[in-house]
Amino acid sequence: MTLTIELPKTQTPQRLPLNPNYPPFRQWKAGVIAEKLEEQPVCLYVHIPFCTQRCAFCYYKTVDLKESQVQAYVDTLCQEIKLVSERFNLKNRRIQAVYFGGGTPTTLTGNQLVQVVENLRENFSYFEEKKQFSVEAEPLSVSPSKMRVLKELGVNRLSLGVQSFNDQIIKLSGRGHDEKQAYRAIDVAQKAGEGQWSINIDLLSGLAGETVETWQESLECALKTGVESITVYKMEAFANTQVFDQGVRQEIIELPSAELEMQFMQLAMERFAQANYNPWSHFTYVKNDSDLATSTKQYRSEYIFNIWHGMEFYGLGVSAFGCLGDSLLQNTSDMEKYATLLAQGELPLSRGYKLTSLDQMVREVLLGIKTLRFDLIAFQQRHGFKLQSLCAETLSTLERDGFVTVSTQEIELTAKGILYGDYVGETLAASLKKLKS
Ligand SMILES: C[S@@+](CC[C@H](N)C(=O)[O-])C[C@H]1O[C@@H](n2cnc3c(N)ncnc32)[C@H](O)[C@@H]1O
Ligand code: SF4
Repeated sequence: MTLTIELPKTQTPQRLPLNPNYPPFRQWKAGVIAEKLEEQPVCLYVHIPFCTQRCAFCYYKTVDLKESQVQAYVDTLCQEIKLVSERFNLKNRRIQAVYFGGGTPTTLTGNQLVQVVENLRENFSYFEEKKQFSVEAEPLSVSPSKMRVLKELGVNRLSLGVQSFNDQIIKLSGRGHDEKQAYRAIDVAQKAGEGQWSINIDLLSGLAGETVETWQESLECALKTGVESITVYKMEAFANTQVFDQGVRQEIIELPSAELEMQFMQLAMERFAQANYNPWSHFTYVKNDSDLATSTKQYRSEYIFNIWHGMEFYGLGVSAFGCLGDSLLQNTSDMEKYATLLAQGELPLSRGYKLTSLDQMVREVLLGIKTLRFDLIAFQQRHGFKLQSLCAETLSTLERDGFVTVSTQEIELTAKGILYGDYVGETLAASLKKLKS
């Protein structure tokens, strides 16, 4: 399939980076506690903040790896698991998917990983019934023995940060591995998990030093590995990153322009289509090796898919966030405070947000459309309104400009809509938010 997408001559509309949440964290406040809890299935997120390096582009809450601190964190995390399962009556909820993210969860030793999982098993009655157990890893932390532990713990999706297969670009981004080590890690993971897990690798589009040639080489390298899933994030130079400091503020390093970054993504989409990798979200492509529906279901992230379709989820660990009932909740990002509060038997929550009915509609649209299709009938059943009527003008402009197709059943992103990332979601969300005024 060849994609014929005209690149914009102006800066608007723009290809927007991934926005994982709504409303933004700055609107969350202290003292929000979840109410109106239901007995629906729930997803669990576990945050492991440690990394062997601080990558120049990274905006996540991470902490340098110090052995004594890691064991103390794992012990505290286990206290939180127990407290949360009792406090929110989560113990007897069905578990749909579990996601260990970071940071780099595979920086934990095998024993520490076992300790965390055993605590989850003890405190969540249905832990073993989860459909998917996903763990993030980084190439240098992938060893045959670590993979054996993950396999024994029942992990069935591994997500490996690679970012680029070009040594110079990897080095510029402050990562400790090189191309060979990335291949080695993928190979070790593939051999260890054969028949049990699928592998996703993350690439970053827009890294310092990237050219069309280096990007195309990275795409070829990624496809050559045969992994089941490839994610391409648009590198966003957030204010807390080195890239922002040196690339945006001081102009010491040169970042690809927005137009060039868009070209990278367009090239990726074309190449993935040729290689029979299909998108299930606007940034993740999965290998179609049986039929499309089966491959997509098997290889997509169940955790991400479900929380973007409104399933409740709880975030365990420092800075982790979740959504229970109509409440968004986030733990403190301060490691010391996290430990102190739990030592006192208190939840380490620092802020939250109570969703209004309008917030819920906005959130549902913004997150749901990331998975390429939005179910208009289900929206009407839940909220009593037709989204097509609430956003009639915006939807017809988006359709006219080739971002979406709209039927009575659903809104579907076109190839252009996928290329522009969160643009469709943000545009619809802005139109819905105007209803308040
Ligand atoms: C929390 S990391 C987990 C993987 C592991 N720590 C690693 O880096 O190999 C998840 C992914 O976030 C993405 N990421 C990090 N910083 C980003 C940024 N500034 N913009 C977009 N994506 C970013 C990277 O692609 C990374 O693989
Ligand atoms: S990208 Fe991954 S390894 Fe690098 S600092 Fe962020 S979480 Fe750590």
